[in-house]
Amino acid sequence: MEKLRIAVIGCGRIAEVYASAFRHLENEIDLVLTVDKVKERAEKFAERFPGCAASDSVSSAGFQELLRQYKPDLLHILLPHHLHCPYALDAFACGVNVLTEKPIAIFPEDADRMTAAAKAAGCQFGVIFQNRYIDGVQRIVDLRESGALGTVRGAFSTLNWFRPASYYACDWKGKWATEGGGVVIDQAIHSIDLVRYMTGLEAVQVQGHTARRILQSIEVEDEADAAITLENGAVYSFFACNYYTTNSPIRVEISFEKAAATLTMDHMEIRWADGRMEDIPCSQGTENGERYWGVCHEHQLQAAYQALRQKKALPWAPEDARKTLEIVQAIYLSARIHSAVSIG
Ligand SMILES: NC(=O)c1ccc[n+]([C@@H]2O[C@H](COP(=O)([O-])OP(=O)(O)OC[C@H]3O[C@@H](n4cnc5c(N)ncnc54)[C@H](O)[C@@H]3O)[C@@H](O)[C@H]2O)c1
Repeated sequence: MEKLRIAVIGCGRIAEVYASAFRHLENEIDLVLTVDKVKERAEKFAERFPGCAASDSVSSAGFQELLRQYKPDLLHILLPHHLHCPYALDAFACGVNVLTEKPIAIFPEDADRMTAAAKAAGCQFGVIFQNRYIDGVQRIVDLRESGALGTVRGAFSTLNWFRPASYYACDWKGKWATEGGGVVIDQAIHSIDLVRYMTGLEAVQVQGHTARRILQSIEVEDEADAAITLENGAVYSFFACNYYTTNSPIRVEISFEKAAATLTMDHMEIRWADGRMEDIPCSQGTENGERYWGVCHEHQLQAAYQALRQKKALPWAPEDARKTLEIVQAIYLSARIHSAVSIG
């Protein structure tokens, strides 16, 4: 099997998760290029992979030149949120496929530009939502699709995490222009995505509220709640904050007609209306000792590499990731105008 040529732009915190996945998947891929505006970061990452080049050439022209020189089959974008769109457009201009970190972009309009550019260039384009690979999550999707769970009656998600001031002490986090928001777009976007994925339903209306209550060094929200009406009329209740004392396990619960399914990060509990109970541990374990970034990057990367070889669409489709982003932006808009916002 010929190895896929992989490039990475952005060698910060999440890049460590990719480094460990790349090592496990070394029979399938060659990391050929790492890029970061801080050259030492690109070099430090590359030095673990023999033959990998490192560069700080991050202007649009310079980056395109690198892509044309190293000809990767796939670019992983691990950058601040406002940079997902411009660097994806550079990659598509060079005919390079892209798998970007979440969120797809800050604004749905940018997601549309990226999707259109990928299509025009004949490139594959996918977005990371690794938590969809948690074992119990897939079981719920399979059960729902088989009809065993019946209709969705409601859902809730809660996220009480801790992000210290040091987390925001960088040039992009905590700012509207670069992070695009706070706890909703960065952390709780995974919960929103899981509710969409597990229910199979889209949101039609959002009544949201956001606040900056405790973390005074940031511009963006450190707390948010919302009542999100799904297309069948069921209501999804959402809460998230970044100022708890620790990273408490998230909780995502879907109430179906025939069972309630509760995900608490490392296991899924299904309580059937007829009294049966199922407890599904998440077999993926932890990543670099970090439970809260999700544990399934490697699964999504492997699925993406397989899709690329088979010339199939990368998981997850940009149109799908855009739907999750639309809910995020509807929460922000609703909070700003103090009114319900319709979607779609
Ligand atoms: N899927 C998950 O669970 C998860 C978890 C954490 C982060 N992320 C995502 O990963 C992305 C990166 O987050 P992070 O926490 O690693 O951020 P980070 O700040 O630690 O790293 C970003 C890196 O990008 C580099 N960079 C900035 N501007 C650049 C430019 N113009 N060209 C090249 N390099 C540039 C920085 O020097 C830094 O090394 C974000 O989209 C974030 O939401 C996803």
